[in-house]
Amino acid sequence: MSSFYITTPIYYVNGAPHIGHAYTSLIADVFARHFRQRGDDVFFLTGTDEHGLKVQRAAEDQGMSPQALADLNSAKFRELFERMDLTHDRFIRTTDDDHRETVLEMVRRMKENGDIYLDSYEGWYAASDEAFYDESEIEDGHAVATGAAVEWVEEPSYFFRLSNYEQKLLDWYAADPAYVQTDGRRNEVRSFVEGGLNDLSISRTTFEWGIPFEGDPEHVLYVWVDALTNYVTAVGGFHDEELFDRFWPCDVHLVGKDILRFHAVYWPAFLMSAGLEPPKQVFAHGWWMNEGQKMSKSLGNFIDAFELVDTYSNDVLRYYLVREIPLGSDGNFVHARLAERNNAELADNLGNLVNRTFAMTRKFVGGDVPDGSGSDHEEEVNLRKSIEAARDDVLRLMDARDSYQAVQRVFALSGELNQYVAVTQPWKLNKDGDEARVAATLYHLLEGLRWVAVLATPFIPDACTKILEGLGETGDDANLISGLEWGGLPAGRTIEAPEVLFEKFDMDEARARSEEKKEAVEDKKEKKEEGEKTASLVEFKDFMKIEIHVGEILSAEGIEGADKLLKLLVRVGSGDERQVVAGIAKSYAPDELVGRRVACVTNLKPAKIFGIQSQAMLLAADRDDGGLELTTFPDSVAVGTRVS
Ligand code: MSP
Repeated sequence: MSSFYITTPIYYVNGAPHIGHAYTSLIADVFARHFRQRGDDVFFLTGTDEHGLKVQRAAEDQGMSPQALADLNSAKFRELFERMDLTHDRFIRTTDDDHRETVLEMVRRMKENGDIYLDSYEGWYAASDEAFYDESEIEDGHAVATGAAVEWVEEPSYFFRLSNYEQKLLDWYAADPAYVQTDGRRNEVRSFVEGGLNDLSISRTTFEWGIPFEGDPEHVLYVWVDALTNYVTAVGGFHDEELFDRFWPCDVHLVGKDILRFHAVYWPAFLMSAGLEPPKQVFAHGWWMNEGQKMSKSLGNFIDAFELVDTYSNDVLRYYLVREIPLGSDGNFVHARLAERNNAELADNLGNLVNRTFAMTRKFVGGDVPDGSGSDHEEEVNLRKSIEAARDDVLRLMDARDSYQAVQRVFALSGELNQYVAVTQPWKLNKDGDEARVAATLYHLLEGLRWVAVLATPFIPDACTKILEGLGETGDDANLISGLEWGGLPAGRTIEAPEVLFEKFDMDEARARSEEKKEAVEDKKEKKEEGEKTASLVEFKDFMKIEIHVGEILSAEGIEGADKLLKLLVRVGSGDERQVVAGIAKSYAPDELVGRRVACVTNLKPAKIFGIQSQAMLLAADRDDGGLELTTFPDSVAVGTRVS
């Protein structure tokens, strides 16, 4: 039996779950269910990431202990996944006891391998990403990649010799091209490693919420070393050899694109250092937007995962999220689009096939499965080929982790069955008294439907269970892929139509919901922009703090080695002469300046420019040709006059 181990990231407990969290876990659930149907030994892991500065600060803000906040929010994730009917084998928490033990052993091994040393860290850190950034990755106090605010950190720190793993990682990527998915992202990861790896700071001393460093408890282990190790803990790493051997190395770490570097660079290096095999694959999926808007804390427009499961059935939500975007691409959650897909694809295509198949069986042959599996009529022969091809395609696509194409392939089969009804017109065959063909067409539809229901189970499990029950397929093995051999549905069985599987949505209501959500965000955006504008307005009393006077340029000369600067002497009042360094050498020759009256800021703190004291600043405007135009006054305005 092959094994299949799939993980989701573990989620920070600083807040409640949103669509992004629901999405990753749902996709992992789709794969877990599929591989269980193939008879594989499956382990599906999800859970919560509870240590670190981000959680500690969130707890402080809410006046709670980090443990209490973790308990509160971890329970929300657990409840969400129950409501979504996810089939994880373990919900791990990084505060679990077995996890702490595994982490300590992991670090011990990395140390024994000579990969950990004590030094000090000086650089940028973003608490909301729990990530260190290089100077080159920062702009205006924020990480360019994620927009997270960074802060300067200077403290003793243990380091992991990531630089030792550059070549090993590149060899690893080269050995298995499927290792990092998607292909584009693999190239990004490879170039990042090729650009050179710095050693990684893996401990902090300025906060406490984490696993203390063994032998030096002043240090708290970097939360990513702690968090990534959850994948080892859950399958018995260092404590249950049998379980570990069954599932390690992991088949797929499913992650969002923002945390690929941690999973495809740091994680395999940590594992290599600890003497464990790296995972077989890291798959980075894209990000969802909300009705065309990027979700952000400041707009407060994260799609609340509970609101989603309250609004839509699990099947509809799963179907939409899998079908709307290829795994790896970004997507846009649009309520009206979900309703459209529900109506056209779930209700019209599949729902309709189910209704008409059961209805015709009742009407034409009394409700039992007719005996017609072996028809050698061309239409049936072709249909059987097509049905078998669909099964093979779905298996191949799921092996390639292409759930997006796989779900389409199943629904294409449902479409083909509808087409088959349109072409064969069983009601006509019935009217003509062609009993053999009626039996053949109905058998092919019922058996085809069974195949559709089995193949669609990972995507819409509730509806598929109902279809299979309707067909009398109720055992534990009713949805195994191995049961997809033609003729599996026994003739003579009495069947019963399931209740309506998919209700249609009112499209006007769906569009109104989309509009309402969009407007709510637009409103917030406008308010935010207005707030920013007001915040950037200056009070009159503040403006009046700046003293601008009319000054007369007494002398001007160039500065050696600084071709943009001039050194001026400016009189700004009686007996008040200032030395000024001004960047106007490209626009004015020294001679043409002497005697001019200019606007001069006189109460700026003196600054050294090019090593020379500057005691005031001249005002000038940028000209279109790139030069500067000084603000000047005619001689009729007295030197020293205040400009306001
Ligand atoms: N705790 C870390 C993961 C540690 S794994 C060892 C973490 N947690 S998280 O809660 O911030 O994010 C979890 C996942 O949600 C990430 O994979 C992230 O990509 C995903 N998403 C966050 N916003 C998202 C969208 N808007 N859309 C889709 N997924 C998004 O990172």
